[in-house]
Order: sequence, then structure tokens, then C-alpha cells
Amino acid sequence: MAFAAAGLLALGVVGSSSALLIPKPQACDSVQSGYQCQPQISHFWGQYSPYFSVPSEIPADVPLTCSVTFAQILSRHGARDPTASKTAKYNSTIIKIQNNVANFTGKYAFLDDYEYTLGADQLTDFGRQQMENSGIKYYQRYANLARKSVPFVRSSSEDRVVESAERWIDGFNQTKAGDWWANKNYPSINVVISEAAGSNNTLNHDLCNSFENGPDSTIADAAQKTWVSVFVPAIQKRINTDLPGANLTSTEIIYLMDLCPFNTVASPNGTISPFCSLFTESEWHDYGYYESLNKYYGYGAGNPLGPTQGIGFTNELIARLTKKAVQDHTSTNSTLDSNPVTFPLDRALYADFSHDNDMTAIFFAMGLYNSTAPLSNTTLQTAQQSNGYSAAYTVPFAARAYIEKLQCLGHKEEMVRVIVNDRVIPLQGCGADWLGRCGLGAFVDSMAFARSGGGWASCAV
Ligand SMILES: *[C@@H]1O[C@H](CO)[C@@H](O)[C@H](O)[C@H]1NC(C)=O
Ligand SMILES: *[C@@H]1O[C@H](CO)[C@@H](O)[C@H](O)[C@H]1NC(C)=O
Ligand SMILES: *[C@@H]1O[C@H](CO)[C@@H](O)[C@H](O)[C@H]1NC(C)=O
Ligand SMILES: *[C@@H]1O[C@H](CO)[C@@H](O)[C@H](O)[C@H]1NC(C)=O
Ligand SMILES: *[C@@H]1O[C@H](CO)[C@@H](O)[C@H](O)[C@H]1NC(C)=O
Ligand SMILES: *[C@@H]1O[C@H](CO)[C@@H](O)[C@H](O)[C@H]1NC(C)=O
Ligand SMILES: *[C@@H]1O[C@H](CO)[C@@H](O)[C@H](O)[C@H]1NC(C)=O
Ligand SMILES: *[C@@H]1O[C@H](CO)[C@@H](O)[C@H](O)[C@H]1NC(C)=O
Ligand SMILES: *[C@@H]1O[C@H](CO)[C@@H](O)[C@H](O)[C@H]1NC(C)=O
Repeated sequence: MAFAAAGLLALGVVGSSSALLIPKPQACDSVQSGYQCQPQISHFWGQYSPYFSVPSEIPADVPLTCSVTFAQILSRHGARDPTASKTAKYNSTIIKIQNNVANFTGKYAFLDDYEYTLGADQLTDFGRQQMENSGIKYYQRYANLARKSVPFVRSSSEDRVVESAERWIDGFNQTKAGDWWANKNYPSINVVISEAAGSNNTLNHDLCNSFENGPDSTIADAAQKTWVSVFVPAIQKRINTDLPGANLTSTEIIYLMDLCPFNTVASPNGTISPFCSLFTESEWHDYGYYESLNKYYGYGAGNPLGPTQGIGFTNELIARLTKKAVQDHTSTNSTLDSNPVTFPLDRALYADFSHDNDMTAIFFAMGLYNSTAPLSNTTLQTAQQSNGYSAAYTVPFAARAYIEKLQCLGHKEEMVRVIVNDRVIPLQGCGADWLGRCGLGAFVDSMAFARSGGGWASCAV
């Protein structure tokens, strides 16, 4: 009905060409809303979902009676190709299917001449555009500050992260250059922190030895394996019946599912891949939960040393919020953090670029999801049931958390607010008000886990 009305309107106003009746395809991705094509599946791809604006129970706008005095963005890199080890496995899975299946029909027909061409590890063009969009959105949201100052920018050293920071700056730059009221200062990357072994890096884990080399690193795999045994067998049976000869294992079924998001973000405009229609909506929800289990039991509250790995950044954040020297004995680099050139304390805007696992650890070190009940390994919990926690809600490609300080009428003390992918996360343990905010002092007090060093001593065991 709505479409017919729009078509008639177009005819009436512009003239009579039947082409006008064909609606222009809506772009899948936009600056404000992120990825919105087939949200009933694409918002359930875990950390492989492209960023989308997550619904917020609390309005995410800056309250009318407040002005922003500080805005830190913590960002994941944009959409990328599969990692090198995964890309080889996906390729073999496709080759196995094509070698063993004689006849591809219906929704499988595309597999007949599908060619595996995905690369490894680097951003896709779609991912580059996501980061530019994120820089634009950040400038627009924080224009009052961004007009007169520039963010201090740090990046972890992996290529795709550094490139993400550059593309984000590009989006910020363009928007600032077009703002008549803005000064002429533009940001660039100030510090790149090495990911080499032994490097103290608050934007990349690896320094907690007993986690990296001990049994805690296997907890997530075990939880996922249990969940796979619940949701994959029915899919496996169907696909192996539909594709006689394929004889795919449960792991290969997961690979086939992974190929939906990866082929989607490999398309410059994010066109949904035909792999996606091989699975039902509820199967995608099960898949999203599978990815949430990986993050929750890998780097979240489900892992004894998960949140601990996010302490270093949290202590840096406290230093920036309070403009006082960093106090930390975990993963911070004291050489960098004691030098005002590499760790200034007087800025209003900060931007840091990192990875999904590290951001998960930081969110849990901050206790943002402390009200989330432990994730079951046998029963799906939706993000709604988990107080806004899912991998797709928190660490999709180009994920961004904003940590803001607000100066508000009627409040002498500045207030702190945290917004993860446009969803306000009501702060825990500091008496948050109805807008999810706490006073700065109460917020810092509530970060006792990070300030006390959490379980860092266990990393050396
Ligand atoms: C995306 O690109 C494809 C191929 O270039 C094109 O067919 C499709 O219409 C485009 N979709 C959108 C939403 O722009
Ligand atoms: C392929 O499958 C379709 C549908 O099941 C069937 O009609 C057709 O005969 C098959 N072709 C070959 C070459 O096996
Ligand atoms: C996929 O594997 C085949 C066979 O090993 C190889 O020739 C091809 O280059 C691989 N393709 C990609 C994109 O990795
Ligand atoms: C942003 O603008 C500054 C100043 O013009 C320039 O030095 C920098 O290269 C720009 N960065 C990007 C990524 O466009
Ligand atoms: C700390 O940072 C300095 C300056 O970049 C670097 O030379 C040093 O290797 C780093 N130390 C560790 C332990 O990461
Ligand atoms: C699954 O969860 C149950 C209940 O929390 C737990 O006892 C069990 O160890 C878990 N199994 C795996 C493999 O994660
Ligand atoms: C299917 O693969 C399994 C190993 O995953 C193998 O044991 C079995 O023989 C294969 N079945 C057929 C019909 O090829
Ligand atoms: C790097 O981290 C380790 C472990 O917490 C710490 O002992 C060391 O002093 C740190 N090095 C620097 C340069 O901050
Ligand atoms: C979150 O829970 C952990 C574990 O119980 C606790 O140590 C931490 O202080 C809590 N964080 C907040 C902000 O309440």
C-alpha cells in the first residue's frame, strides 16, 4: 500500500515513465542506522554482523539539559575477510561440496559456479566504508567538542586496525572540513601500540600468560561444542539430504553459515549473500547465540580471566575521565602512559581502535553486563533476556562504544554515561539514574575491580 502511494506520487510529480515505479534499492548500510538489510537474520551473526544501531530502552540522545564535556570512542575494526586459517577451511569446504555433489538446484543452484575468492585478515571495501561512516557519525554527535578540538587517537598495530583508524579519521576529517563553524585542526593517529609478543597493549590481549596457555582458553570452545550438539544436527541432516554426497560435518555446517556474513561484507554495498538463504531465521538466532557463547566464555564473565584482561584499558579510561595519572599494574605500558605526548590527560576527545575480544574483556572489566545471567550452553537466551548482551549487540564489525561525561543542569558533578552501538547501558554499582548515568565519583568507585587489579596475579601463575 505504501509503495503504491509512493509510486503514484512519483508519477504525478515527475511524469510518466514506468521506470519510476521500480523503487530504488535502499542501501543496506548508512551512517546513522548501520546495517539494516534483513535485520531478522543479519543482526544475529554475532561478531560477524556488520554494525547496526542497537535499540535502546533509554534514549541515547544527549539529554537537553546536558552538554557533553568528554567523549571516548572505543572501536572495533571494520568488516574484514576471514582470518587466514579460516579462509583455507572455507575454501576446502566449498571444494569438498563441489567435488562430491552432482546436482545443485533451487536455493543451492548458486553453488554450481560459486568461486571462493575471499582473501584473509584485511578490511573489505564495505568495512572501510563502515569506518568512514563511524567517523562521520562521531563528529556529528560530538560536533560541539569536535569543532574546536581533535581526538587523541591510538590504534593497536594490526594492519586492519590501523587502517580502520585511518578511515575513521577520514570520515571525521571530511565532516569537520564541511563544518563552517569548525577550526582547522584535524586528527591523525597519535600512537600505534605493538601487538608483538610480550608487548604491553591495552588494545590487544596476549599478555595474560596463564590464560593464553592454560585451560581457561578452552572454556569457550567447550560451551560452543555443547550448543552445537543442540542446534546443528537438524541442519546437518537437512543439508546432507538436500546435497547428496556432501556429507558435511557439524563443523563444516558452521563454516557454511560463516560464509553468509563473510560473503555479505565482501560485497561493496553489503548485498545479502545467497548462502544466507540456506538457513532459517531461527537457525540464524541459534548461530548468533553460538557466537555470543564464544565471547562470553572467552573474554566475558564466563571466563575467570576474561574481564581481567580488560583492566588495563579501564584504568586508562579512569585516568582520562579524572585527568589523573594512570594507576595500573596489568597490561598498560608505563613508558607510554606516563608521557603526556603519548598519553595526554587534558583532552576532551579520545579514539581507540581494537578488536572484538579485547572490547569484550573491557566491557566486562567495567561490569557493564553484570546484570546479565550466565549464558546457558543448552538453551538460547536472547539479547533482550540477557539485558542487552549478545556478541552482535556488543562487538559487530565496526562496533563502537562511547563513554561520555555530561555536565547537566541541576548537577554540580559531571555525570558518566556509556553507550554501546547506540544502546545506553545503565551503569552498575554506582546508583545509576533513569538515564543510566552516574556521577563521576560514584562511577570511579564502582570500577573497584579494575582499580584493584582484578585477578591479574593469576595471569602469572
Ligand atoms: C548492490 O550491488 C549490486 C551489484 O553491483 C546491485 O545489483 C544491487 O542493486 C546493489 N544493491 C543496493 C542495495 O545498492
Ligand atoms: C537434479 O535435481 C533435480 C531436482 O531434484 C532433478 O529434477 C534433476 O533430474 C536432477 N538432475 C540431474 C542431472 O541429476
Ligand atoms: C582454494 O583452494 C584451491 C585448491 O587448493 C586453490 O587452488 C585456490 O587458490 C584456493 N582459493 C583461495 C581463494 O584461497
Ligand atoms: C586528516 O586531516 C589532516 C589535516 O588535513 C591530515 O593531515 C590527515 O592526513 C587527514 N587524515 C585522513 C585519514 O584523511
Ligand atoms: C613500551 O612502550 C615503549 C615506547 O613505545 C616501547 O619501546 C617498549 O618496548 C614498550 N614496552 C612494553 C613492555 O611493551
Ligand atoms: C554446560 O553448562 C553446565 C551448567 O552450567 C555445566 O555444568 C557444564 O560444565 C557446561 N558444559 C560445557 C561443555 O561447557
Ligand atoms: C561421511 O564422513 C564421515 C567422516 O566425517 C565418514 O566417516 C563417512 O564414511 C562418510 N560417509 C560417506 C557416505 O561418505
Ligand atoms: C608490562 O606489563 C608487565 C605485567 O604487568 C609489568 O610487569 C611491566 O612493568 C610492564 N612494562 C611496562 C613498560 O609498563
Ligand atoms: C561486576 O561484577 C564483578 C564480579 O562480581 C565485580 O567484581 C565488579 O565490581 C562488578 N562491577 C560493577 C561495576 O558493579
